[in-house]
Amino acid sequence: MNVYLGIDVGTSGVKVLAVRADGTILASGVGEYPLYAPRPLWSEQNPDDWWNAVVKVVPEVVAKAGVKGSDVKAIGLSGQMHGSVFLDKNDAVIRPAILWNDQRTAKECVEIEAAAGGRDKLIEMVANPAMSGFTAPKVVWLRNNEPENFDRVAKVLLPKDEIRRRLTGEYATEVSDASGTLFLDVANRRWSKPLLDALQLDESILPTVFESEDVTGKLTPQVAEQLGLTTDCLVVGGAGDCAAGAVGNGIVRSGVLSTSLGTSGVAFVHSDEVKYDKLGRVHTFCHAVRGKWHMMGVTLSAAGSLQWFRDALCPELYEKAKASGQNVYELLTAEAAATPIGADGLFFLPYLSGERTPHADPNARGCFVGLTLSSDRGRIARSIMEGVAYSLREAIDIFRGLGVPVGEIRASGGGAKSPFWRQIQADVFGSKTTTLNSEEGPAFGVALLAAVGGGEYSNVVEACDATIRQVSELAPNPDAQKKYDAAFAVYQRLYRSLKADFEAISTLG
Ligand code: XUL
Repeated sequence: MNVYLGIDVGTSGVKVLAVRADGTILASGVGEYPLYAPRPLWSEQNPDDWWNAVVKVVPEVVAKAGVKGSDVKAIGLSGQMHGSVFLDKNDAVIRPAILWNDQRTAKECVEIEAAAGGRDKLIEMVANPAMSGFTAPKVVWLRNNEPENFDRVAKVLLPKDEIRRRLTGEYATEVSDASGTLFLDVANRRWSKPLLDALQLDESILPTVFESEDVTGKLTPQVAEQLGLTTDCLVVGGAGDCAAGAVGNGIVRSGVLSTSLGTSGVAFVHSDEVKYDKLGRVHTFCHAVRGKWHMMGVTLSAAGSLQWFRDALCPELYEKAKASGQNVYELLTAEAAATPIGADGLFFLPYLSGERTPHADPNARGCFVGLTLSSDRGRIARSIMEGVAYSLREAIDIFRGLGVPVGEIRASGGGAKSPFWRQIQADVFGSKTTTLNSEEGPAFGVALLAAVGGGEYSNVVEACDATIRQVSELAPNPDAQKKYDAAFAVYQRLYRSLKADFEAISTLG
């Protein structure tokens, strides 16, 4: 039997999936690791923790799948995007990796835009403006703030590509994740020499760029033995978690859009041509489909906002749910569903980690606006779910404004498990919202890329067509849609009203 593994190096843990070429899931496993916030708005992880989780979970999943190590023909890698792993010339990790949701680089973003000759010029070079979560500002931050560490840097790798290096010994990446570094000439799918020159950085610090389905190497003998696999096992390019999740959702042709509600929330649309927003409000990245692109908007705290609410404000409910074997999110959703659309005028702005789309603003803060004495737990939970949906709608409206067709919306991620939150999405977006047979997200998408690299399919579109089908559909409710349209206009004004205050708050110390 031919088996393909998808490994997703996420923010809260690594997920490993074993699938057959026809898409049947044989087994899955998760290994968690900590996230460190040494200062407010900083976010770091230890690459050894990722690796230890991979080494533990891969053999468990292969055993659970009941297959032999020699059945595993190829591995696809996915992971949290934008993180920077700094390696010295002996491949030692120089300092903890700085992650996608870290907001320390506001000054470096300004510096990069100036070095490129202005924001517009930068967008022309790499299709995107500098965002504080992206990798390039982190490299410049290291040079500005930890020069002794910067002097030791021989390579900068993305999280999944550090796992690839440990699996295969190769320094390699692929176009989708490379796009999120800001160093990639997205239109031409190669590193941007003009930007690297402007920043006085040498291309040698970056890995080789492949297309997502290309084979980038094979397991080293030592790792093959450690994982119980063979040295014939291929490792394909894979994809950043957004593009990987989109492949897993079959977003490989134009017209269909996906939303994903994980820690962050993503609205993702396929594009046959390279189109970008001149204002830089949404990202234009290479897709994991050969020669294609995608646009996406990212709200930094999506299901993460509900998780924050659970942990910070509902500890008793959470404990009670655990003790009685119930799911705390189902309890919160039931309370939210019993409240009116719009939560009686309560709005939540989901900027708990600053924001990316459409307001690239590290100073933005989470807010509740419109609290009254009747704002109970259900209304607050509902306002969080609605606020996250409004935030994604801002990105979807920008895609529509650029002429990108948006028909059906495929909902995925932990937050999409709730039919109530899916209905909110259908009503807020004004589009049919569907779910698919596969709910495994990025790990499934890269397992499909591994099956393509392993020769089971001739391309990723064929792999998606053979394995993915729709299982549920929710239509927008016209009444709810009307109410949400009116509330959305207020939601959009709130950021503009508060922007200057967010900045003032950031100087309060
Ligand atoms: C995408 C992004 C996040 C991370 C989370 O641009 O920053 O979705 O990839 O894993």
